[in-house]
Amino acid sequence: MKTIVISLLKGGVGKTFFATHLAWYLAEQAGRRVAFLDLDPQGSSTRRLAKERTGLFSADLFDPDEKLVLEDAPGITVFGADPRLQMVKAAQDVHDFIVRFRGLSAHFDYCVIDTGPKWDELT
Ligand SMILES: Nc1ncnc2c1ncn2[C@@H]1O[C@H](COP(=O)(O)OP(=O)(O)O)[C@@H](O)[C@H]1O
Ligand SMILES: [Mg+2]
Repeated sequence: MKTIVISLLKGGVGKTFFATHLAWYLAEQAGRRVAFLDLDPQGSSTRRLAKERTGLFSADLFDPDEKLVLEDAPGITVFGADPRLQMVKAAQDVHDFIVRFRGLSAHFDYCVIDTGPKWDELT
């Protein structure tokens, strides 16, 4: 799984614009499985990608107890933002995320990650 993170510590500079269009571009090739992780609590990409496969949440990747059912489906699968992202503050959350994130590679060819404008544990 090739992962591309869109990050810049400033708002309104086109991160979400670029991340969403990159995901659409990558998914144009038939059969490609693209994961999209919205790590911005503002959730702009989640709203922009509302017509894609939704129902998963990026906050679940920070929670080892949360059940995660992944299908190997072509197209974009959105891990959407929800208010729980604002609770991600501890180094342990980051560790839990990294462990869970590795598990995505068996199910996706690409992973695009949109981030918020802050330098914090989420980013
Ligand atoms: N390359 C671009 N061309 C035209 N409009 C753009 C471009 N990149 C961003 N925008 C617009 O600028 C605004 C801010 O972009 P956005 O992607 O939400 O920024 P960020 O995610 O960095 O906060 C949005 O209204 C978006 O549609
Ligand atoms: Mg944004």
